[in-house]
Amino acid sequence: MTKIVILTGAGISAESGLGTFRDDDGLWAKYRIEDVATPEAFARNPELVQDFYNQRRANAADAKPNAAHIALARLQQNWPGEVVIVTQNVDALHEAGGAVDVLHMHGELAQALCAACGHRWPAPEVMQTNEPCPACQAPSGRPDVVWFGEIPYHMARIYEHLAEAEIFASIGTSGQVYPAAAFVSEANAAGATSIELNLEPSDISRQFAERRLGRASQIVPIWVEDLLAGV
Ligand code: OAD
Repeated sequence: MTKIVILTGAGISAESGLGTFRDDDGLWAKYRIEDVATPEAFARNPELVQDFYNQRRANAADAKPNAAHIALARLQQNWPGEVVIVTQNVDALHEAGGAVDVLHMHGELAQALCAACGHRWPAPEVMQTNEPCPACQAPSGRPDVVWFGEIPYHMARIYEHLAEAEIFASIGTSGQVYPAAAFVSEANAAGATSIELNLEPSDISRQFAERRLGRASQIVPIWVEDLLAGV
């Protein structure tokens, strides 16, 4: 049974109204990474960091999955082999679109993490500066998202999946952030056929055997139909 591993990034959620990071109007044009997305930023100015993620959590709560998220869930349901979705996104739109067992390598806005004891719990809509941990009571609650300088989640499982992939697809990601940007070379080395689906060629586009350019909501459902037509 052919195993498909899919990596997604902010581009798949763009048409659901969630901003990307590196496009002209992206989040990193409005904020500096070192002010809001590092452990040092949180230590220096927890209020600013919580505000940044509270705003993103509010935006994500209002967003609906688009045709691309829904098509990937359809692929998971109808493909005869395993379809593994690995996302860099901290929203829950894959799950809202019907996908299961999504590996959130950069964490999830919907979860809180205690920086003191490591306990995780569902994040309140608005996290406070000194958010108390329900397990150890330390005022150390932070968003359960992976910041620059931290190790992404689920890496051992992701590399196992990449080693077994026969098809690897990268959707809506600029290929500028590692380790995710190295997944295509891992999959290629394992013998997978790789395809990039993105608005424009990414920085690592040449590493893919095939590319389809356009909006995710248009090109992902067509790619899924093409795959399912061959079953
Ligand atoms: P980027 O903002 O770097 O890249 C988004 C990509 O999506 C770009 O290549 C766009 O061309 C493409 N794109 C935009 N709209 C699209 C659409 N409608 N359909 C298809 N593609 C579209 O976002 P990521 O690659 O996800 O990490 O960023 C990777 C990581 O960098 C994020 O997880 C985040 C960020 O800093 C952390 O915060 C740790």
